[in-house]
Amino acid sequence: LDEAVKLLLQLKETYKKVTGQDYKSGSPPSEVTSTSGNGPTATTEDDDVVDPWTVATSNAKGIDYDKLIVRFGSSKIDQELIDRIERVTGQRPHHFLRRGIFFSHRDMHQILDAYENKKSFYLYTGRGPSSESMHVGHLIPFIFTKWLQEVFDVPLVIQLTDDEKYLWKDLKIEECYRFAIENCKDIIACGFDVNKTFIFSDLEYMGESPGFYKNVVKIQKHVTFNQVKGIFGFTDSDCIGKISFPAIQAAPSFSSSFPQIFNGRKDIQSLIPCAIDQDPYFRMTRDVAPRIGHSKPALFHSTFFPALQGAQTKMSASDPNSSIFLTDTAKQIKNKINKHAFSGGKDTIEEHRKFGGNTDVDVSFMYLTFFLEDDEKLEQIRKDYSSGALLTGELKKYLIDILQPLIAAHQERRKQVTDDVIKQFMTPRKLAFDF
Ligand code: TRP
Repeated sequence: LDEAVKLLLQLKETYKKVTGQDYKSGSPPSEVTSTSGNGPTATTEDDDVVDPWTVATSNAKGIDYDKLIVRFGSSKIDQELIDRIERVTGQRPHHFLRRGIFFSHRDMHQILDAYENKKSFYLYTGRGPSSESMHVGHLIPFIFTKWLQEVFDVPLVIQLTDDEKYLWKDLKIEECYRFAIENCKDIIACGFDVNKTFIFSDLEYMGESPGFYKNVVKIQKHVTFNQVKGIFGFTDSDCIGKISFPAIQAAPSFSSSFPQIFNGRKDIQSLIPCAIDQDPYFRMTRDVAPRIGHSKPALFHSTFFPALQGAQTKMSASDPNSSIFLTDTAKQIKNKINKHAFSGGKDTIEEHRKFGGNTDVDVSFMYLTFFLEDDEKLEQIRKDYSSGALLTGELKKYLIDILQPLIAAHQERRKQVTDDVIKQFMTPRKLAFDF
């Protein structure tokens, strides 16, 4: 019996270490405790690393996303959900859904149930402005969010975390705010409706909105240092700004952070489209939500946009050759793809014709799955490249021919974004919805 008691005490201690909470028998497992069990930077047997700061795998095909769903405790976006979205909206599902680029979700069925009963929700997404220039990978959540906004016709809030970048990077506050405004232009250039969209810089909006700050403080009161250590891997020597930042990314998940849009209501649920590396923030948010009288945000998770060098890591804004930037010229785009895009082709033309290429590791092909909308054309390219009928240079040419006009059009739209337009988007105001 002594042994058993000792073991139980040990277990309770471990539980407290991992969860930051006292063990009470019969207490329901919370999302935070059930998903952060393997520590801050959870890794699978094959060493995939996914957290808000690092994405890396040793597998050339990229991260094993099915395993990630199990590890994070989210749900797979299956055909049934995709069909249901089609039924409810009457629109053909976006190719990001059809092709598994958005692959995981939390509580989407709940959002759709409510929507079918004429209950509205809102969209929340964001961007950490770490530099002036964004790359094509950064567009993925925004392209998808725009589609969601159009098919569901709901309000959208976009958080620019200039405060986060100040805390994490060696940058001045003024620089971070300037990057936020520069990035805001690229986001607006994606085509959001100004009557339905509010974009805000944390540095600015925090001082303007008691509703927002009150929620930040409520969240701060309900999360312990132990918990954020477990979720994000913070240590005793991290500055307190970092330790409390997750509350700031969590707060826009609650409608009362935007009284001007929701007329003070706190019962409008949010839906957050984001890359899967942001999930730790929202696991924490979902854990806190019911304890401060809010509904849990629903989520849509995307895969990562691979670096040119291969799917072992995501595109990085700090390595110019790993990414195609929204400021690149047609010539730069062509050169980067031809020189740096990792190829699944064979070394010689003879071998390639004989054995065919491997689309599972070919970065140009992966990019085509993001940007070539025509399903039949994509399938034809896949077949031809795999059989060896299509050469690597020809495959790359398909991609170049898609990205050059896409980025040129983006640059053209960005030029139209005047200071006045930015001001309109960033002014706290009522949107074209009555609550
Ligand atoms: N932390 C995110 C980044 O560094 C920015 C962000 C804030 C965000 N709120 C979000 C991203 C909500 C997705 C959804 O890019």
